[in-house]
Amino acid sequence: MTIPRKRTAILVSGRGSNMTALLSAAADPAYPAEIALVVSNVPGAPALDKAAAAGIATATVDHRAHAGRRAFEEALDTVLRDKGVELVCLAGFMRLLTPWFVERWHDRLLNIHPALLPAFKGLDTHARALAEGCKIHGATVHVVRAEMDAGPIVAQGAVAVLDGDTEDTLAARVLAVEHAIYPRALALVASGAAQIDGMRVRIRDGASTSPDPLLVPAG
Ligand code: GAR
Repeated sequence: MTIPRKRTAILVSGRGSNMTALLSAAADPAYPAEIALVVSNVPGAPALDKAAAAGIATATVDHRAHAGRRAFEEALDTVLRDKGVELVCLAGFMRLLTPWFVERWHDRLLNIHPALLPAFKGLDTHARALAEGCKIHGATVHVVRAEMDAGPIVAQGAVAVLDGDTEDTLAARVLAVEHAIYPRALALVASGAAQIDGMRVRIRDGASTSPDPLLVPAG
């Protein structure tokens, strides 16, 4: 029996390691999302070659080739709709999206952010966590709302901040957590197990087992 899989696009701007984690998970026919398209706003982004090598359709919508944010987002929206996309994952997509686009994809647009939101929205999250003396740091997958780096949290993963950490060593440990939580979070949303209630996301009974205190919800 084949299960219906949600047609999902991944939006990237750079190297695409989170994209690769999502592609790997979706290579399993039992995974509830199929990756229908990878779109970059940056021509020649390394992620595009990686996606093409994995046999995934790619597109570039260069924000600099459009007169303003709205024109860029309308072009992006058209590319997604032409491919029959149902869910969109931002994975290192470094453009702020306007409320127009966010509303068009309401509850169907996910983002990964390298911090334990609502702490450290924005850039340079690892340096800021170190500067603040945090003992715990991590990553968040959330449903996108119009405000930057805000919206219902689907999954979070944490790491300890070690005395010897630099920005780079901390970033590397957090990135491994990102690669663990994003495929889980997408599976929860694509399967319908994640139920959004205001700012809270509850996981339907049975969808999350063997709790791992550092990855919530565990798979
Ligand atoms: C990831 O760490 C992601 O969390 C971050 O960019 C990196 C992209 O890496 N995203 C943001 O900072 C968004 N505000 P990747 O291209 O290897 O997935």
